[in-house]
Amino acid sequence: MFPINRPRRLRQNSQLRRMVQETVLTANDLIYPLFAVPGEAVAVEVKSMPGVYQLSVDKIVEEAKEVYDLGIPAIILFGIPENKDADATGAWHDCGIVQKAATAVKEAVPDLVVIADTCLCEYTSHGHCGYLEVGDLTGKVLNDPTLDLLKKTAVSQAKAGADIIAPSGMMDGFVQAIREGLDEAGFQDTPILSYAAKYASAYYGPFRDAAESSPQFGDRRTYQMDPANGKEALKEVQLDIAEGADMLMVKPALSYMDIIWRVKEITNLPVAAYNVSGEYSMVKAAALNGWIDEKKVTLETLTSFKRAGADLILTYHAKDAVRWLNES
Ligand code: PBG
Ligand code: ZN
Repeated sequence: MFPINRPRRLRQNSQLRRMVQETVLTANDLIYPLFAVPGEAVAVEVKSMPGVYQLSVDKIVEEAKEVYDLGIPAIILFGIPENKDADATGAWHDCGIVQKAATAVKEAVPDLVVIADTCLCEYTSHGHCGYLEVGDLTGKVLNDPTLDLLKKTAVSQAKAGADIIAPSGMMDGFVQAIREGLDEAGFQDTPILSYAAKYASAYYGPFRDAAESSPQFGDRRTYQMDPANGKEALKEVQLDIAEGADMLMVKPALSYMDIIWRVKEITNLPVAAYNVSGEYSMVKAAALNGWIDEKKVTLETLTSFKRAGADLILTYHAKDAVRWLNES
């Protein structure tokens, strides 16, 4: 007890603080999301996400080189297809936009890890993450028929060069279905990063501008989780582990740090946290107003995700974060 115990002794100067620092953020922890669109030389800034662009494949390749040169090990690809339909053809077609982008990036930057987001919402005419009954206007996605499409999507992404498959649609059994599909097609060594605990969150708003993937009616609450539930996240995680997931994701990150912590406690698999679009946009908006210090706030937040138990962080701030880390 005081006056024997004085925790401030170890905070006296930067050398001592450096020695006792528990959590260290590095470029290795980061994954950078990219949005691929058709065309050439296209770079359209997303209004609600300053600094984030929809990019054509040639621009994605340029960006991939920059990401690699910064020492960030991986990107995750989302796609905006030419056409949307009820079968999400653009998701699983071998000439789909993510497939094209994956192939081009692997050719230009073979050592950069390419993660493919595996979902249907960017590709369905109604914007839901799976099949709907014909005429359904509520958005109650049919689970098992959707699994077949996800399987097809994952295999075609792996064929195109994707190194990791990341299913994000919160369908029951999607890890098992995708594992089966990949194994049958000879991709036994392609890991699955499951969006295991994904909440029905209002923080996805800006992403839906970027990915043009808003549901046209209804919402995602029949497949994504209720933000009020914690134990249910552990159940989801346990099921995905049993189905063969190699890595697990918690999403969003900022208001779900308790979930990151609880998931980390029950698994030895790597845990990823998705620092989602709304979290990014709030920081950007405040920073552009001069209300907060973007660099300090961002590095504090990302470090906190690691402290909470995240081994990997998907973040739109990845490139800036590495530049800032290199400055200090
Ligand atoms: C959909 C998907 C979403 C995000 C990634 N994939 C959200 C959604 O529309 O439900 C969100 C990412 C972000 O907000 O940054 N499968
Ligand atoms: Zn989706």
